[in-house]
Amino acid sequence: MADKVYRASTTAPVNIAVVKYWGKRDPKLNLPTNSSLSVTLSQADLRTLTTASCSSSYPASEGDSLLLNGEKSDVSGARTQACFRELRARRAALEASDPSLPKLSTMPLRLVSENNFPTAAGLASSAAGFAALVRAIANLYELPASPSELSLIARQGSGSACRSLFGGYVAWRMGDAADGSDSMADQVAEASHWPEMRALILVVSAAKKGVSSTSGMQQTVATSGLFQERIARVVPQNMAAMEKAIQARDFASFAEVTMRDSNSFHATCADTYPPIFYMNDVSRAAIRAVEQINAAAGRTVAAYTFDAGPNAVIYYLEQDTEAVVGTMYHVLGGEVDGWKDAAVKGLKPSVSL
Ligand code: PMV
Repeated sequence: MADKVYRASTTAPVNIAVVKYWGKRDPKLNLPTNSSLSVTLSQADLRTLTTASCSSSYPASEGDSLLLNGEKSDVSGARTQACFRELRARRAALEASDPSLPKLSTMPLRLVSENNFPTAAGLASSAAGFAALVRAIANLYELPASPSELSLIARQGSGSACRSLFGGYVAWRMGDAADGSDSMADQVAEASHWPEMRALILVVSAAKKGVSSTSGMQQTVATSGLFQERIARVVPQNMAAMEKAIQARDFASFAEVTMRDSNSFHATCADTYPPIFYMNDVSRAAIRAVEQINAAAGRTVAAYTFDAGPNAVIYYLEQDTEAVVGTMYHVLGGEVDGWKDAAVKGLKPSVSL
């Protein structure tokens, strides 16, 4: 029994925010300056698969380890360590209350993770990564934790990861407790509530982002005046309008809030000193293409959003696939060199929820 290997596996999906998290009020605990809301994408297309194992036969001298897409990854960072610490503490509490349980909390952990999409594509891989890491270890430790409780832990790995513990439409409520005990995610609606929703991902550049989200946020909080307006007024309004649009399955409102919120987030980045630019010329061409598509349809059929990089995510409804996906390729393929190639880099163009 002494060298028994305990093991558990899980997958977690990618999520793309429609009301963006941008700014930390407590960088150590990853507490945000505002609430956010995202859509979880299909695991068939974008997910991380993680297996966690532990054994007293694993040499203590090797410590905890993580293999990501076949390569050794550093686990000594404060974020990863915080997740390990929180999960071990919960397991240790179980072991203390039931001495018959094996002492998994004292054994070295080995994690093996694989993404079914390019890690460096700027597609919120850390969200799926930390969500899968936390749930795999929670399963291994047989912790009786709800997705919201696990979201509290995943949040400390990567803020946006707390939203990947749920499917469908997910809110991360910022909370106001100093210890972060109320800063967690909940589900606004199941994916089946709005089954026609689709996301088109356009990989403008698969290069790693120039300014990390952590330093971009830090600079924005420190130097942008516009940011104060965003967190005080813009985001609270967008959160309320977005939840209403989702409940009512009102695509025009969903789309307008999504586009306005992306614009607002990137405006605060441009308002930092020195300015940060995540979007490039191709990103801006994608915005124009969406505007053209909506104008040609005479109603809003597509919505763009951009995270901390140039890649576009376009939300649309299944019945408008031809107008959106067909036109997007047509317009951008003709106008922008290399767009078509970039758009299909290793990813299926359409991702159902
Ligand atoms: O979770 P992080 O630290 O990688 O930050 C994510 C920030 C955005 O992707 C730009 C917005 C969001 O809400 O996901």
